[in-house]
Amino acid sequence: MFPEDVISELEEIRSHYPHAKAAMMPVLHVAQQQKGWLDQETQAWVADFLSVDPIEVHEVVTFYPMLYATPNGEHVIHVCRTLSCDECGARELWAHLKSKLGVERGGTTSDGKFTLRAAECLASCGTAPAFLVDGERHESLSLDEVDALLESV
Ligand code: FES
Repeated sequence: MFPEDVISELEEIRSHYPHAKAAMMPVLHVAQQQKGWLDQETQAWVADFLSVDPIEVHEVVTFYPMLYATPNGEHVIHVCRTLSCDECGARELWAHLKSKLGVERGGTTSDGKFTLRAAECLASCGTAPAFLVDGERHESLSLDEVDALLESV
């Protein structure tokens, strides 16, 4: 599943917790860094590694928006869905991006270029709406500026 150096890293992480299950989030982050997303095979491997039921891993993977149970396109857009952004333009931003990209939340464009995902508060509430493109934060952009940004990546 993973190269030896990654297994060693995961074992080191697991050793820092009194119960293996408590290491689930950092283990999943490393697994996702390695694989790009957390498919069923990877989830099952993590469950075995942490001695938990596979459904427990699946519940965590599908609960947190920054963990991916489906593959991503070339670029990932995370739009904040939390209250301040929702009240300050994120609804319009969501509608614009869904229309422009032709996808729903969680979807990937037909050319595989963009995946549109939700994020919880990105700590930019005062400059809402906030979103990430490939992990880089953008705030309070007009829809024209959003279009220009996406055309530049
Ligand atoms: S609510 Fe969107 S950045 Fe805080």
